[in-house]
Amino acid sequence: MLRLAVFVSGRGSNLKAILEHSELENLIKVVVVFSDKVECGAFEIARKYGIETKVIGKGDNKISNENLLDVLRNYNLDLIVLAGYLKLVPVELVREYENRIINIHPALLPSFGGKGMYGMNVHTAVFNSSAKVSGATVHFVNAEYDKGKIIAQRCVDISDVKSAEEIAERVLKIEHQILPEVIKAFAEKRILVQDNRVIIKS
Ligand code: GRF
Repeated sequence: MLRLAVFVSGRGSNLKAILEHSELENLIKVVVVFSDKVECGAFEIARKYGIETKVIGKGDNKISNENLLDVLRNYNLDLIVLAGYLKLVPVELVREYENRIINIHPALLPSFGGKGMYGMNVHTAVFNSSAKVSGATVHFVNAEYDKGKIIAQRCVDISDVKSAEEIAERVLKIEHQILPEVIKAFAEKRILVQDNRVIIKS
């Protein structure tokens, strides 16, 4: 079984999609959920599934960024999934888990990414750009926001939307498909990094 940590900051619908994806049931185990928030929807979901939760930050009962790597090592992880995690991951983590940290981004990178491009900011920018398609991207994480190698993308037609919220709704549906699919491919060792490209073998 692939041992996973999921990093979250919000409602946790992507975490839920991972936990409820039937094809992942015998392939992965989410052993811990980390958040920069003391409380969030994703923690409620984690607790419902009996998964340990940990808060990253400064202060009592929190794990500082400096201690994060040591804490993670104790879990013997195979993969770290950023599912709506809003903070930059410390560079030591990126080094230690090279090509083993993935992020889901709610747009088609390399457009509409980078610092400050999260949540509704992304969808508002897409809406205001008058783009006719949006979508979701799963990519490896490096030291910069949304800049790691792209693993998978899926598009959705947004030519008829009336609001950024409508884009968010359509993209979220895609996110819930594409993220579990990439995790499955990772568990089945079907993801190959070759030079600057990432290939998913069928
Ligand atoms: C998703 O749109 C994800 O792509 C983005 O933040 C949102 C998190 O949603 N990075 P949820 O917490 O998984 O419901």
